[in-house]
Amino acid sequence: MAMTADGKIATANRAVSTFGSKRDHEHLLELRASADAVMAGAATVNAAPINLGPGPLKFRRRRLKTGLAEYNLRVIVSGSGSLNPDAEIFRKKFSPIIVLTTQRISGKKLKQLRAVANEVKICGKTEINFRAALRWLQTRWNMRRLLCEGGGELNDSLFRAGLVDEIHLTICPKIFGGREAPTIADDLGAESLSQAVKFRCTSARNINGELFPVWIRA
Ligand SMILES: NC(=O)c1ccc[n+]([C@@H]2O[C@H](COP(=O)([O-])OP(=O)(O)OC[C@H]3O[C@@H](n4cnc5c(N)ncnc54)[C@H](OP(=O)(O)O)[C@@H]3O)[C@@H](O)[C@H]2O)c1
Repeated sequence: MAMTADGKIATANRAVSTFGSKRDHEHLLELRASADAVMAGAATVNAAPINLGPGPLKFRRRRLKTGLAEYNLRVIVSGSGSLNPDAEIFRKKFSPIIVLTTQRISGKKLKQLRAVANEVKICGKTEINFRAALRWLQTRWNMRRLLCEGGGELNDSLFRAGLVDEIHLTICPKIFGGREAPTIADDLGAESLSQAVKFRCTSARNINGELFPVWIRA
């Protein structure tokens, strides 16, 4: 996740969500090159023309060298089916796209998404059971390492389920402010200090004024 110095991942009006440097973008592709699958929430996929793919040849070569498939799997989370079937991601067919949803999805939406995704998996009644969903991705799609690229609502679910092992941030030297501006973990959050998910910082490079910290689950 890229965030401003005040911890925001987009402006309050959601007009701006890409604000890192070229190095930050390269870093994102390096992380994708280390993962079997890349995942994002429906709002993130609907909001911008993203495809969650590995990018240029050098990253695909790196994947093959380390024993990964040339193109990563793509996973989109959409509990109620608000995911737009016309989103840019569905126009790029280089690797399977899997949608995780719940029984809240309407029959019409399910049909629409089944027509554009490789698989739509119902993973819970009203909430996605991420532990079961990730286990399914492991057995059905041979996924070992998953990179979640947000947004904040999806991240929060994964933090609360205790499923995040590492956090890779880019802290950009900007302030967005705004009470409504999203952060890296936005849904229900913790209610007490004991519920906070704990990490320890293992490195934090400063590259031309941007910080690239890595935290590992404590
Ligand atoms: N700076 C960065 O690095 C960065 C990275 C990613 C995103 N962003 C920005 O962050 C904003 C989007 O963040 P967001 O928090 O609003 O949205 P989000 O997490 O991308 O997507 C939210 C949607 O995902 C589905 N979802 C998430 N968690 C779920 C769960 N536990 N169970 C079922 N469905 C779940 C729901 O879809 P349904 O509505 O279908 O139920 C929900 O409405 C955008 O402005 C985006 O551009 C910034």
